[in-house]
Amino acid sequence: MNASAVGLAIDTTFDDTSIAILRGKRELLANLTLSQFHDHEAFGGVVPERASRRHLEVIHPLIGSALKEAGLGFGDLNWVAVSHKPGLLGSILIGLSVAKALAFSLDIPLIGINHIEAHPYANLLTEKEFSFPLVHLIVAGGHTLLIHQTAHFEWQVVGRSLDDAAGECADKVARMFGLPMPGGKHVDALALAHDPGSYKFPRPLMNDGTLDFSFSGLKTAMKHFRDKHGESADRGPVLAAFLASVGDVLIAKTLEAARRLSVDTITVSGGLAASRYLRQRFEAAASDAGLRLLYPPPQFCTDNAAMVACLAAHYAEAGRFADLSLRATPNLSE
Ligand code: KG4
Ligand code: ZN
Repeated sequence: MNASAVGLAIDTTFDDTSIAILRGKRELLANLTLSQFHDHEAFGGVVPERASRRHLEVIHPLIGSALKEAGLGFGDLNWVAVSHKPGLLGSILIGLSVAKALAFSLDIPLIGINHIEAHPYANLLTEKEFSFPLVHLIVAGGHTLLIHQTAHFEWQVVGRSLDDAAGECADKVARMFGLPMPGGKHVDALALAHDPGSYKFPRPLMNDGTLDFSFSGLKTAMKHFRDKHGESADRGPVLAAFLASVGDVLIAKTLEAARRLSVDTITVSGGLAASRYLRQRFEAAASDAGLRLLYPPPQFCTDNAAMVACLAAHYAEAGRFADLSLRATPNLSE
């Protein structure tokens, strides 16, 4: 496929419907995301049935808006990509069915993308190239993962959360302390504005000799603290201490992975990477350790189809196409 091919990428893996149009590997012509947050707010979490119905309602108009923004028509597309794993089965199926219909009717190649593999590619929308090998930390609402990548399409998970993801933990703690949802960005704002003072919370598994994470014990410690002292007592310093714990663990494990795997470049991506507090901490830690750090701009940290399009452009260049039997796969490890 030629270097200025134009592709459309779809991501409906969870509760955001996102469409991007990319020319070549980094000329982003459109990147539109519709959040379903308010559709699920009253239920205290994402309701899978509602999520798929909402994706179905908005996906066609959103594709139309993206094409309009790019100043293109369907006939200008050279490939179509879709995240077909991991995520909610019913949600993935909406994006996958639309992608297959486009590929079939326009007679263009279909590309199947792993949403997790795509997160670090948010970096390539602004940075020039990856120099392999790399260690990627992906910190999102649904996943906390360390990945070792040796070439495009060659990667493996080397560490993961054994329970809650870091973002999920931050959101639950934010809710305990009466902050609006989704709470990650509010915890981040408090952590930037306050010093933890004498507050100190657990740093689970930090020195256990593995590359795995665990955040449920920290969440429980925060709940005990809140039950004892109330939600507003010293909330700023308390949540600054909480995010300091999360940051210490994420940094320690990522640096340890880089050391063990003899890697000199690390990347951080996923929704929690939009935290300015964590970004400052990672910048300082990487500089102290003599590591190169890649960090996407905040709008490409949270879920978006631009990162999917960027990885898909690499697939297109390598001729790695899927056929119409491509399956929706909820789990990362399948
Ligand atoms: O990657 P993402 O958009 O989707 C999921 O995997 O769900 O990540 C969402 C997570 C949530 O936990 C949210 O609170 C957190 O990212 N988040 C942030 C910020 N923006 C989103 N956390 C801290 N600071 C932010 N600015
Ligand atoms: Zn994600």
